[in-house]
Amino acid sequence: MLSSSQKIKKIGLIEGDGIGPEISASLKDVFAAAKVPLDFESIPAGLGQFEKVGQGILASDLKKMADLKVCIKGPTTTPTGGGHKSINVTIRKALDLFANVRPIKSLPCIETPFKNVDIIIVRENIEDTYGGIEHQQSPDMAQCLRIITRSGSLRAHRFAFELAVRQGRKKVTCVHKANIMKLTDGLFLETFHEVAKEFPQIESSDIIVDNCCMQLVSRPEKFDVLVLPNLFGDIVSDLCAGLVGGLGIASGANIGSSLAVYEAVHGSAPDIAGKGLANPTALLFSSLLMLRDLGLNQEAQKIEKALTEALANKNTCTRDLGGSASTQDFTRAIVGRLKS
Ligand code: NAI
Ligand code: MG
Repeated sequence: MLSSSQKIKKIGLIEGDGIGPEISASLKDVFAAAKVPLDFESIPAGLGQFEKVGQGILASDLKKMADLKVCIKGPTTTPTGGGHKSINVTIRKALDLFANVRPIKSLPCIETPFKNVDIIIVRENIEDTYGGIEHQQSPDMAQCLRIITRSGSLRAHRFAFELAVRQGRKKVTCVHKANIMKLTDGLFLETFHEVAKEFPQIESSDIIVDNCCMQLVSRPEKFDVLVLPNLFGDIVSDLCAGLVGGLGIASGANIGSSLAVYEAVHGSAPDIAGKGLANPTALLFSSLLMLRDLGLNQEAQKIEKALTEALANKNTCTRDLGGSASTQDFTRAIVGRLKS
């Protein structure tokens, strides 16, 4: 957990691949216009870096991230079916960023079938099937090992309950499939109930993941804080992003014991990269999580106001939200409001 007393002056910036550089440019312009007292230190990582140096991120750059303590990251491309290991997974593991926080909140300026969605997803960020422990047993059979540990589960649950207390939330729900994966999800669920006892002021419940998905798309307003193992957390957070306006607006933070890496939920969107169509909102909302964790509340407030005003106007919105503005037009609309 970061402490706002840590007086951070410089943060790491991974621009990433695909639309990463476009949305990072928007972030830099918005921070400059809001006079955010933070400098960026550029950290190369992603497919581009892999093609250049044979590694998605250098060990020296991981060390730099750890020294800086706070980084913000654009999306990085991971090839499917083969190729290099996910840079995200590498960063999360190397820096022990054990909790992934994804707030999902309806915005008055974005029309969706649902109002009053206000969910915080806490995803265990290191274990589960993300260890990359896969074996080709024979040409016709592949196997993936799913690892869930008591210590990893306990700290994710404790983080979720502590966050619920800090943010004045009422209820934490554990999402699992312990009816089928009786040992792995069984352990995740058992440790959840252990931790819940330490927080009698917070209501606790659990739900099987498939039922949870059905209820999320029919009555999302009934959920508060969700805590999930890594893979379900990945899937359910994209589902939840869809409830409030899509991947273009969903923010996230990877949190460790004294480090944090903030990043949007979405990927590098190769289908729209380089076309000026990317919505930088998700990265900007992620930066607001960062500013608030750093105690820069005034700057966060200012940016949030300008951003939500720009989102409320279809003329300044990007195409994914039904507008026709380019990434740069949208950024100019925010910057204009910050300067006026
Ligand atoms: P994606 O999130 O990149 O794209 C899914 C769809 O949403 C696409 O149609 C895309 O155009 C749209 N989209 C995403 N972000 C958008 C934005 N900011 N503005 C407007 N439209 C947006 O997911 P996909 O296609 O599955 O993955 C592409 C690559 O990204 C893969 O290599 C994947 O591994 C990587 N990825 C990286 C992540 C990260 O670095 N945090 C997270 C998720 C995926
Ligand atoms: Mg994902």
